[in-house]
Amino acid sequence: MNINGKTTVFGIIGDPIEHTMSPFIHNIISRAVGIDAVYVPFRANGDMVNITKGLYALGVKGINVTVPYKTKIIPQLYMVEEVAQRIGAVNTLKYTEEGYKGYNTDILGLDRELIKEGISLDNRNVVILGAGGAARAVAFMCAGKAVSSITIVNRTLAKAESIKESLVEYLIAKGNFSLGEKIYVMTAEELKQRGEGGYVAFQCTNVGLSPKVDECVICDEAFYEKVEIGIDLIYKPARTRFMKYVEEAGGRAFNGLRMLIYQAVCSYEIWNDIKVPDEVVGLIEEKMLK
Ligand code: ATR
Repeated sequence: MNINGKTTVFGIIGDPIEHTMSPFIHNIISRAVGIDAVYVPFRANGDMVNITKGLYALGVKGINVTVPYKTKIIPQLYMVEEVAQRIGAVNTLKYTEEGYKGYNTDILGLDRELIKEGISLDNRNVVILGAGGAARAVAFMCAGKAVSSITIVNRTLAKAESIKESLVEYLIAKGNFSLGEKIYVMTAEELKQRGEGGYVAFQCTNVGLSPKVDECVICDEAFYEKVEIGIDLIYKPARTRFMKYVEEAGGRAFNGLRMLIYQAVCSYEIWNDIKVPDEVVGLIEEKMLK
């Protein structure tokens, strides 16, 4: 990397920020596509007004936003892309003449991964395990597809109810009343009583995350028999207990690594108005698995 006076600066704000993989991914992309840019982490102090003004004044062309600022940053933006607005979370800011514009590439990244894996959600019963920020993004991605139903399963039902409410509002605004009636909220215990199967299940809790690799949010074998495709948003370990159970019951399982890479790729493409080639995605994956 040869940083000079013309080098474009990108970065990520969050707190904590030490664990972030984004600089690693973005700097590989810049080198691979030959763009003179550098991506750096910023541990931000929570003063959203001054953080945004400072980044803008310094001409930082693109910013990723992570926990705990994905929602808090929104009032500082000049514009927010529609789905990001509905979810109430942005993870990508693009510098424009008028101010920063916000996007949610967590959703775009997952969508891109599903397309690349040849997974269609059309006419599928989707099960979402968890009701935190990640689950909310996944729920909105699914609501934009022709799914048959969405079932949100969480220990704290009120949080799942809140996602359902936002989804229903979104679907009514889109005129999709039939899906609005097929959004369910329940506990893992209640899910056991459900008859249908053919699930595409998204594991969006942090249960099973390294180092607690032996944990799993649902241990019930009967559930996994109903899962055809299981996607765990966790990528450390590379094969979670959830994925193991899905595969043992005959389903296909994926971890969250590609989703992470694609959300970065989508941000990069928004900032630079380019298409990142698939080979670069493969290269990043290879380096991350080393
Ligand atoms: P993120 O932003 O990554 O989604 P989060 O907002 O903290 O993280 O959400 C974590 C999710 O994991 C929540 O759905 C949480 O359940 P609660 O809403 O009931 O807290 C879920 N979770 C965490 N630990 C859990 C556990 N031991 N058993 C079941 N669910 C758990």
